[in-house]
Amino acid sequence: MEFPRLELMVAADTNLGIGKENKMAWHLPTEFSYYRRMTTSPAPGSSGKVHASIFATKTWQSIPQEMKPWGNTICFILSRSMTAKDVQGYSDVYIHSNLEDIIAHIRLPEMRKRIDRVWMHGGAFGYQEALRSKHFYRIYHTKIHAEFQCDVFFPRYDENRLKLVHDPDVPQGIQVDRGISYQVHVYETTGVCPLIEDFAR
Ligand SMILES: NC(=O)c1ccc[n+]([C@@H]2O[C@H](COP(=O)([O-])OP(=O)(O)OC[C@H]3O[C@@H](n4cnc5c(N)ncnc54)[C@H](OP(=O)(O)O)[C@@H]3O)[C@@H](O)[C@H]2O)c1
Repeated sequence: MEFPRLELMVAADTNLGIGKENKMAWHLPTEFSYYRRMTTSPAPGSSGKVHASIFATKTWQSIPQEMKPWGNTICFILSRSMTAKDVQGYSDVYIHSNLEDIIAHIRLPEMRKRIDRVWMHGGAFGYQEALRSKHFYRIYHTKIHAEFQCDVFFPRYDENRLKLVHDPDVPQGIQVDRGISYQVHVYETTGVCPLIEDFAR
């Protein structure tokens, strides 16, 4: 697969709910630490490279101010309404109105030599764009074994069009945090778009 390989990081409840009122619908500190570690800490041996983080507008806006930008990563925001003024004061935060332009930016030689992995952080719009991209590689899907009130959902996808893979860096087996259980599943592309409903833009 051509660089970059897009890896989606998501935690969802049993209905694929991912958030409510532009916030997370649950508080699972162990899951959040795993998410933060995976998306901000380059693997040993990545020779000084950092991760890239892609956020659609609302997800970027939902990050608490003190956590912006996202660790030591190069951030790309998928937005038609935000401008450079909205991210002034940050270095290495770039805005593009479509995913293809973000990918083209990441592929520039000066970026390519700095970037290790490329994470799509959501939300629903960002995920959908990544799942239909030829650069889609993996979904790191934390399945939360509970139902929450959500107003935004991960796009429905067919697990049978993907292969389940083992990643030793994710928590193995069922985890329990504050009485809520969850498990991380890692799915990899087989070259077929896994989206069940591909809404037209
Ligand atoms: N559980 C998880 O793992 C997880 C992960 C991420 C987010 N979340 C939750 O998800 C929610 C935020 O996600 P969201 O799905 O509401 O929003 P989102 O996908 O983060 O952002 C949506 C925005 O994308 C922008 N966009 C850019 N190009 C577009 C196009 N061609 N068509 C439509 N929109 C386009 C639009 O903003 P412009 O008007 O600026 O273009 C639109 O408002 C929050 O509740 C957050 O906590 C959860």
